[in-house]
Amino acid sequence: MIAETTGLNLAAIRAEFPALNQHINGHPLAYLDNAATTQKPCAVIQAIVDYYSAHNSNVHRGVHQLSQRATDQFEDARSKVATLIGADSVIFTKGSTEAINLVAHSWGLENLREGDRILLTQMEHHANIVPWQRVAAQTGAEIVPIPLNSLGEVDLDAYQNLLDERVKLVGVVHVSNSLGTVNPVPEMARLAHEVGAKVMVDGAQAPVHMAVDVKTLDADFYSLAGHKMYGPTGIGALYVKHEILQTMPPYQLGGGMIRTVTFEKSTYQGAPEKFEPGTPNIEGAIALGAAVDYLLSKAPGTDRTILEASAPHEKTLTEATHQLLSEIEGVTIHGNSPTKAGIVSFTMANAHPHDIGTILDANGVAIRAGHHCCQPLMTALRVPATARVSFAIYNTLDEVEQLVRAVKQVKEIFG
Ligand code: ALA
Repeated sequence: MIAETTGLNLAAIRAEFPALNQHINGHPLAYLDNAATTQKPCAVIQAIVDYYSAHNSNVHRGVHQLSQRATDQFEDARSKVATLIGADSVIFTKGSTEAINLVAHSWGLENLREGDRILLTQMEHHANIVPWQRVAAQTGAEIVPIPLNSLGEVDLDAYQNLLDERVKLVGVVHVSNSLGTVNPVPEMARLAHEVGAKVMVDGAQAPVHMAVDVKTLDADFYSLAGHKMYGPTGIGALYVKHEILQTMPPYQLGGGMIRTVTFEKSTYQGAPEKFEPGTPNIEGAIALGAAVDYLLSKAPGTDRTILEASAPHEKTLTEATHQLLSEIEGVTIHGNSPTKAGIVSFTMANAHPHDIGTILDANGVAIRAGHHCCQPLMTALRVPATARVSFAIYNTLDEVEQLVRAVKQVKEIFG
């Protein structure tokens, strides 16, 4: 079915992801929880095995061969990640959350003052809210939410009305993990820059769905999460505009980020080392490099890359899911932006999302049920939680049908 619509050889793609090949509660696994974390292709798993089997050593610290090999692979991975998002370089972090914490505690504490405003969209993940609350409490700055329209998009008129010289930072999620909305970052950044504000883009969900170019977006800060783009957990990256990066003090301090240390004072290396104290997640970075290679490899059955093939494929799955779920009485889909990425959140009139998730699991369908780390968004939607389906390149229309059959079973049980 998919082969007819997008030309992808999905059997070949799925064969690269060993975890997909299993049964759950007697049903073939339909893994539709990719916004929480994606499954990993063999190349990523193998990169971790190879690193520990042949190259394990610390980076930037040894003159011996193994250390040089590990350092070369680590720095090669940095270049791959930076190139993927159109950056000159990136800082490696634990993930998107640590990247945003770095910006909040380094740039934020240094630059925010009493009376300043931080605008955050109402669909932000807690990762792009809670660090700013801490910084706001310490500096006297104020957080102001940017409202959404009925499609689950940023209300651009309301956003423009909120922008004035008090605004020093705008926080916006590139692709909403709850709604799938793809935010108009270039336009939002242009408007923010007109009043002198910086823009923190939470990119955790984006690079797996679409090509990202931080310069076209004109983001001042852009975070990403390795495990949501076929890489391992515990590794992510932060891009910061060069001129801002030069002014930022270190966030965490220790070995590896210094030039000289005496008991009186220390001097620091330049970026990115200044922001990467301690032994980093070496195998995570190298395996993230392998995930980038995977995204840029040819999609079986087409002459496009996996990355280029992702958006049209996920659009097919998303549209089918919207259509089939909306035919079930009592289902409400939250997030109806016409340009949304492959994420579908829904509620049912008589079933709690946790009950939906449990019955789906009994049918082999893995989704996330809950507030998706977006409690302010749930408040705005007036729901306690949603059931969320999220797609990746390996998902199929058969899995959408398996999902819909299970949702119909929920309807039969709960009415
Ligand atoms: N932020 C991840 C999600 O959306 C964990 O599920």
